[in-house]
Amino acid sequence: MNTPRFSLTRSLPPGATSAALAADVARGLSRVPKELPPRWFYDARGSELFEEITGLPEYYPTRAEQEILTRHAGDIAGLSGAGALVELGSGSSAKTRLLLDALPERLVYVPVDVSSSALEAAGRALLAERPALRVHAMVADFLAGLPLPASPSPRLVAFLGGTVGNLLPAERARFLTWLRTSLAPGDALLLGTDLVKEPAVLVAAYDDARGVTAEFNRNVLRVLARELDADCDPADFDHVAVWDAEREWIEMRLRARAALSVKVPALDASFDFRAGEELRTEVSAKFRPEGLRAELAGSGWRLERMWTDTRSRFALSLAFPAP
Ligand code: SAH
Ligand code: AVI
Repeated sequence: MNTPRFSLTRSLPPGATSAALAADVARGLSRVPKELPPRWFYDARGSELFEEITGLPEYYPTRAEQEILTRHAGDIAGLSGAGALVELGSGSSAKTRLLLDALPERLVYVPVDVSSSALEAAGRALLAERPALRVHAMVADFLAGLPLPASPSPRLVAFLGGTVGNLLPAERARFLTWLRTSLAPGDALLLGTDLVKEPAVLVAAYDDARGVTAEFNRNVLRVLARELDADCDPADFDHVAVWDAEREWIEMRLRARAALSVKVPALDASFDFRAGEELRTEVSAKFRPEGLRAELAGSGWRLERMWTDTRSRFALSLAFPAP
């Protein structure tokens, strides 16, 4: 029997997503300060809003990474020798096309994402464009330590867009160590990271003039309302983006416009906000090349090459598990 060219595997059983969201809400909204992990932005609407963000004049990371891939996809393909491409947090797989163009035509592509709508749309579009490609999509949380699916080796694992910066430092170290131990000798990691720059440029990228990022930020409240029947109204919260110069990351927050209470029937609980109280919804860490090199080495990676765009806004690193 022929292997299908497209398959979609769900590692999360039905109901697991709501249960995980309920656990994150119970924990994150009872903390001071309040926080939620960023994966909850990405329902179908959140994935669409993120795609819109990538085209905004203020949001340079996508264009900068695209510039590096346009110039160096051939080098990456040559150095990795990959027979399969695994992509974590693949979203629309838009920039991935540049890598696919440089890799063998009969490639196995394994996009991994929590957004099944993004995986389905991206997978079907890629298959229509590339008759020899096989796509084995996985709806999964890349932080859950799941086994990566068997695929031809060596594998190139791409983690693009700067999404690694959305992990907190300890989470990032655990993740990079887990990924290294999941790979075989000869497999490689291609890691996209946004770089430290002028705070005004960074803040504008997360607080655009058209308010698309504000909508993306508020979308997490729509997810809470739909999945947990929470009675939160996005109009009650302001979008906030601040540069933390000490930790070198952007924080997105939602600030309550007035004192309010968010009731969550699924948890039989309610969470009080004071007027002006903030809920942190995302950190987006920005890196320095020397710090990145040290982080990779600290989690068992040997950095082979690091490329930046012509304006040194973004870096793409190719690393191998250290012997
Ligand atoms: N790689 C694409 C998309 C980046 S947006 C790009 O560079 O443009 C971040 C993507 O990661 C989204 O598609 C989101 O659904 C996914 N994502 C976020 N947290 C995740 C998690 N914990 N596990 C799996 N996917 C996640
Ligand atoms: C997916 N991730 C790298 C984006 C970022 O820039 O941190 C998410 C995002 N948040 C606001 N705008 C885009």
